[in-house]
Amino acid sequence: MIDRKEIIEIVEGYDTDNIKIGAVASHSALDVFDGAVEEDFRTLAISQAGRQDTYTKYFKAQRDPSGKVIRGIVDEDVVYGKFNEILLPENQKKLVDENVLFIPNRSLTSYCSIDNVENDFAVPLVGSRNMLRSEERGMERDYYWILEKAGLPFPERIDSPEDIDELVMVKLPHAVKKLERGFFTAATYKEYLEKSQALLSQGVITAEALENARIERYIIGPVFNFDMFYSPIETEMSKLEILGIDWRFETSLDGHVRLPAPQQMTLAEHQLTPEYTVCGHNSATLRESLLEEVFRLSEKYVEASKKYYDPGVIGPFCLQTCIDKDLNFHIYDVAPRVGGGTNVHMSVGHPYGNTLWRKPMSTGRRVAFEIRRAIESGKLDQIVT
Ligand SMILES: Nc1ncnc2c1ncn2[C@@H]1O[C@H](COP(=O)(O)OP(=O)(O)O)[C@@H](O)[C@H]1O
Ligand SMILES: [Mg+2]
Repeated sequence: MIDRKEIIEIVEGYDTDNIKIGAVASHSALDVFDGAVEEDFRTLAISQAGRQDTYTKYFKAQRDPSGKVIRGIVDEDVVYGKFNEILLPENQKKLVDENVLFIPNRSLTSYCSIDNVENDFAVPLVGSRNMLRSEERGMERDYYWILEKAGLPFPERIDSPEDIDELVMVKLPHAVKKLERGFFTAATYKEYLEKSQALLSQGVITAEALENARIERYIIGPVFNFDMFYSPIETEMSKLEILGIDWRFETSLDGHVRLPAPQQMTLAEHQLTPEYTVCGHNSATLRESLLEEVFRLSEKYVEASKKYYDPGVIGPFCLQTCIDKDLNFHIYDVAPRVGGGTNVHMSVGHPYGNTLWRKPMSTGRRVAFEIRRAIESGKLDQIVT
């Protein structure tokens, strides 16, 4: 792990009048850049050849002579053959020379590997570098481990497929679609065997991934992903905030649920098991009496993160939950960084974030606002790792 002191030294050398906000141009980068522009920062997108146009062309920023943005959000871009070229020492140096504060998203860790981000990417991250690994399911101290330490509710793990006695979710990666899910559900051991055999023979999952899959109780209820924010530099008011709530469109699951049951029954074998590939986001609010519990769960998560992952959560994080029929929350995933669904409130702001801050406050803007506040109060060292 890159020593935090090393990063703080780099930031101490930054020209704080000319900070740029950088991110891997994918995942939630539009939200991040939009927020950065709102808070008067310049933005830098790191793109990969073949998937850069959204950033370098369609959302390119245009500024008037005074520097005011009149269109778009991406001031500068770098297009590499592969995202991970950002790790090359000369490319890292360019970022540091340009006073770039980097906002980690899931694409950074997916395309550059967590090992590299932890050990080699010596560019200041706004957020907690050492927590990024916790979202790798199956790692020794993954998010389930933190949830357990914190006494937070998560779906019960089923140790062996033979023990399946009611509906479960089997979580494993997709064999072909790199970075996507090969999840499936089963209510009995027999169904587990049938489905896994079918998915194996269709090449959707591999035997090795199946062997290492996490099997957990399926929570029957709606999904609420809580886009939270923790500010280490806040001194007067609550350090914890809820900004917004999103949920995801997933293919092919969302297509299945739009079919009547008799039609589902006549689908071809290769269409029978839905996939869970996120392809869009939607916004939600929560019944008001349940908000208190979200704060309670989030406070506990933050507390545990400080205890076991010093310095703990910095900035945005996302608790992904299902709510059961008795209104209990079950946390099935935690993103210790900007969530994947925050574009849903890009520019217009999250409902709760707006309510709190009395102006449009998306996750991207909240991150940039935190950087702005940290610069103004001389506390940048407290939000970088
Ligand atoms: N225990 C569970 N019960 C019901 N649905 C679940 C459960 N775990 C995950 N899901 C569903 O699976 C999807 C993704 O799960 P998640 O654990 O977040 O995977 P990933 O780590 O790939 O993001 C979500 O749509 C969520 O609703
Ligand atoms: Mg998830």
